[in-house]
Amino acid sequence: MIPIRPMTEADLDAVLAIEQACFPRAWSREHFLAELASRHGVAVVAEQEGRLIGYLCLSIVLDEAEVLDVAVLPTVQRSGAGTVLLAWACDEARRRGATVLRLEVRATSGPAIALYERFGFVRSGLRKAYYENGVDALLMDKNLSEEEY
Ligand SMILES: CC(C)(COP(=O)(O)OP(=O)(O)OC[C@H]1O[C@@H](n2cnc3c(N)ncnc32)[C@H](O)[C@@H]1OP(=O)(O)O)[C@@H](O)C(=O)NCCC(=O)NCCS
Repeated sequence: MIPIRPMTEADLDAVLAIEQACFPRAWSREHFLAELASRHGVAVVAEQEGRLIGYLCLSIVLDEAEVLDVAVLPTVQRSGAGTVLLAWACDEARRRGATVLRLEVRATSGPAIALYERFGFVRSGLRKAYYENGVDALLMDKNLSEEEY
């Protein structure tokens, strides 16, 4: 089992290293600090043998939740951490009264899209050329009233 715990400011060096390894336009330390301070935000990290291997930032406003950021250390991807983080996000959003969980993903991020589809997210829209180099953003939603994922 991969343990999950709340993200703190002390985690940010490790979080930023993963963020920079995973995204061409990485969030800054200030961006993560703003998320940690936000009353709508809740962020967690996943650990393996005491090492931070992934994280997820969730936002919940009334009955809508959004996965703002999720990433797993490239060297340990495909070993279940993304699943644990996303399962936590679904449970936490539902526990706080959200009925839908939304996210945006690069249309070129095959592994992430495969993970989301496995959790029952469906494509709900497209933002053309939203990311760097003209990459489209795919909008995906999951209805949280469905119990199974
Ligand atoms: C998306 C991401 C968080 C998934 O984390 P992960 O720990 O590798 O995911 P898991 O090991 O839990 O994979 C669960 C399932 O997702 C799908 N999946 C994950 N990686 C995949 C890949 N490279 N190719 C195809 N399917 C993949 C599979 O269905 C997999 O189940 P399986 O291994 O039993 O076939 C990780 O790939 C990542 O950090 N990517 C870079 C950052 C990113 O794109 N974040 C999403 C931004 S919206």
